[in-house]
Amino acid sequence: MKVLSVASECAPLVKTGGLADVVGALPAALAQQGVQMRTLLPGYPAVMAALVEAEPLLDFDDLFGGPAKVLASRIAGLDLLVIDAPHLYARPGNPYLGPDGRDWPDNPERFAALSWVGAHIAAKGAGGWQPQVLHGHDWQAGFATEYLRQMKAGHVRSVLTIHNIAFNGPADPGRLHSLRLDPGRFHSEGYEFWGAISALKAGLMGADALTTVSPSYAEELMTPEFGMGLEGVMRHRRASLHGILNGIDEDAWNPATDPAITPYSNPAGKAAAKSALQAEMGLPQAEGPLCVIVSRMTHQKGLDLVLETLPTLLEQGGQLALLGSGDPDLERAFRAAGEGNPNVAVRIGYDEGFSHRLIAGGDAILVPSRFEPCGLTQLYGLRYGTVPVVALTGGLADTVINASPAALARNVATGIQFAPVTAGALRNALVRLGTLYKDRETWSRLQTNAMAQPVGWALSAKAYAELYAGLTAS
Ligand code: ADP
Ligand code: GLC
Repeated sequence: MKVLSVASECAPLVKTGGLADVVGALPAALAQQGVQMRTLLPGYPAVMAALVEAEPLLDFDDLFGGPAKVLASRIAGLDLLVIDAPHLYARPGNPYLGPDGRDWPDNPERFAALSWVGAHIAAKGAGGWQPQVLHGHDWQAGFATEYLRQMKAGHVRSVLTIHNIAFNGPADPGRLHSLRLDPGRFHSEGYEFWGAISALKAGLMGADALTTVSPSYAEELMTPEFGMGLEGVMRHRRASLHGILNGIDEDAWNPATDPAITPYSNPAGKAAAKSALQAEMGLPQAEGPLCVIVSRMTHQKGLDLVLETLPTLLEQGGQLALLGSGDPDLERAFRAAGEGNPNVAVRIGYDEGFSHRLIAGGDAILVPSRFEPCGLTQLYGLRYGTVPVVALTGGLADTVINASPAALARNVATGIQFAPVTAGALRNALVRLGTLYKDRETWSRLQTNAMAQPVGWALSAKAYAELYAGLTAS
């Protein structure tokens, strides 16, 4: 089985969130299932700089406004196809944002080009390699199905994975021509969404199969509360929608071998990581749990609720250490909370190494998201024996076993869940956390269970492989 993965980010080369982790981990996970996956990426400066022995495979005179090449290269175990198109991608920094912190104005064309090249390779092959399935990720790959249709590539099957439906890739209808779209399909059964062009909707309507990154989010997507206006489309495509849980890279996130910390393989071994983290962050020793957060700072992530409930955590003798960046108001408010309290430490920024030290050193990891398609940091927490305290939504609902009396009695609990996603419910969860933490025996069992919970790719890779097989058999 040959599959072309089409994505706008891929760890370890370019990452703004969990999408990159998943796109970077899928090929190795799928190789175990006999799937050969190559990943098509835009040639951002960081990607171009990483290329080794790049082999030119395709040439385009005019790829959405300038010449372009497709280069093949193997980097970090990934079989990459990279679009070298300086007019679209030779821009420093974040893949989506200009220096002013706003989306690049030509983002619709930049990612239409990614989708177009993906469709071209799927339709005609590249260097003799012919995929049977085009597997796109999020809105950046949404137009691929439109282009496959134009290229009359009926032999290729398509899958679109929704990592976050909140981003639908809108463009003004005046751009139909520059986006190379068929104007005849600018209607509600095509890629039209509230009078605009939507790249995500194009993919949602056109892909043979849709997947999203947890079974609960698959259900939620069909409701007005979570569907972001696309719930009708999701219901329409219900029969082709699959919730397949994300895994994590168990080599990169392994407390027993992690070079960022003093390694450990049981809860007792976490002590060194905790004191190192407290020392690094200037936190004193404390009676209660050290809670950590590693997150993009956006409304989705519910971090305002953490600010609101901070007094409750501190009353339990607890501490907070946060690493994140995003919304300037949230950054400011957390900075102020850090300055005003010796038991709160805040680092604004993006730092992969530090995220490992935080997750290893925490007693608990807080993920109070308003919605969460899957979420990866609670999975890292599980693997590191850092008990997840999570909102009961999306992938957070599917990956944590709440410390209910029944689950504690059966000794299967791995974390704490709270609902609804309000400050009141989070406050109660923090009190439960304080109580559980004091009961050393129960706490240690929670940690042991967490560390034993499977969080790898094995089951999900099998589910993707079966999906590809089913699509190509029909
Ligand atoms: P999302 O993709 O919505 O941001 P996920 O939980 O799926 O949420 O993935 C977030 C990924 O980004 C995780 O790998 C997490 O460790 C990482 N991450 C988020 N913020 C930071 C940060 N400030 N520094 C380092 N890593 C971060
Ligand atoms: C998105 C979601 C997150 C998910 C990630 C990877 O960024 O917000 O929940 O884990 O994609 O699928």
